[in-house]
Amino acid sequence: MLEWPEKVTIKEVGPRDGLQNEPVEVPLQDKVAWIDLLSEAGYSYIEFSSFVHPKWIPQLKDAKEVAEMISRKKGITYAALVPNRRGLESAIDTDVDEVSVFMSASDTHNKKNINKSIEETYPVLKEVVQEAKLEGKSVRGYVSTVFGCPYEGAIATDQVARVSECLLEMGIDELSLGDTIGVANPRQVDQALSEWKQWLPFDKLAMHFHNTRGMALSNVLVSMQHNITTFDAALGGLGGCPYAKGASGNLATDDLVHMLHQMGIETGIDEEKLKEAAIYIQRVLNKALPSHQMQVINKERV
Ligand code: HMG
Ligand code: MG
Repeated sequence: MLEWPEKVTIKEVGPRDGLQNEPVEVPLQDKVAWIDLLSEAGYSYIEFSSFVHPKWIPQLKDAKEVAEMISRKKGITYAALVPNRRGLESAIDTDVDEVSVFMSASDTHNKKNINKSIEETYPVLKEVVQEAKLEGKSVRGYVSTVFGCPYEGAIATDQVARVSECLLEMGIDELSLGDTIGVANPRQVDQALSEWKQWLPFDKLAMHFHNTRGMALSNVLVSMQHNITTFDAALGGLGGCPYAKGASGNLATDDLVHMLHQMGIETGIDEEKLKEAAIYIQRVLNKALPSHQMQVINKERV
């Protein structure tokens, strides 16, 4: 019989990865109300926004106001993405708990996303990690396009390991490996994790799947077989990267929580409260959310 973990940590990225790809900008009050509902649902981690350039991601231009207005609950880490020193300063001004630096395993996506080559990005992020640590903040590091790039196609596992090792050497506390465009299949995840095991500390590893082709949950199952117990997800399956053509929704938190609870694996998350938060943001966005849980709920509600 396969062995499963007793507990899994889910990091909610909906307010950031979810909303950054929406065609409409969600009003500040609604964002704050939504994040407050998420805070009641039992998460230990919520990535609430990004301190990036407002021209690049207009949907998140109110990161500072969001940080100031949400009701922060004890026991929850409130995190935000920062691409550079300017973003870090804003994040520190608003007293976030954790900052996330991000870069890509493929040069083309990196340039399109943050306007720098991989080599040019290292010194920028190194300074951010150092400064953040001096300010007493923990730092998460994302590597994108680890299973495939919309511009370069397949990405070698050792290339992913090289970029990841550079971030780890800078001192990041956690590494999140992203299937940005949702191309990974379970066998590929198994093979890649088997290889990364030689190079990367799995106790610091989180997986970040997008569900473009419906394989995200299967990829979680395979990752759990490699003892990975931290996963990023966005409520309702919102999400995508505006600078990765073809990227669509994240792994849906509600589908993940449902599957794990059905399997007897704890998440600490309350499914009823999750449903309330999903219905709220669905109403604000005025469109049916793509998760399976929301499809069931929406059918029941008509
Ligand atoms: P740039 O144009 O190269 O920036 O953009 P720059 O350093 O040349 O500065 C130009 C101007 O921008 C200056 O202002 C700076 O002050 C200002 P000016 O002097 O001209 O008035 N500026 C800023 N303003 C506000 N906040 C900042 C900031 N930095 C500089 N932080 C930059 C470079 C990185 C800023 C830009 O490319 C950017 O903001 N990119 C963000 C892209 C993004 O957020 N993508 C989505 C997140 S990644 C993702 O979704 C993947 C993930 O989910 C994992 C996965 O799925 O794989 C994490
Ligand atoms: Mg993502």
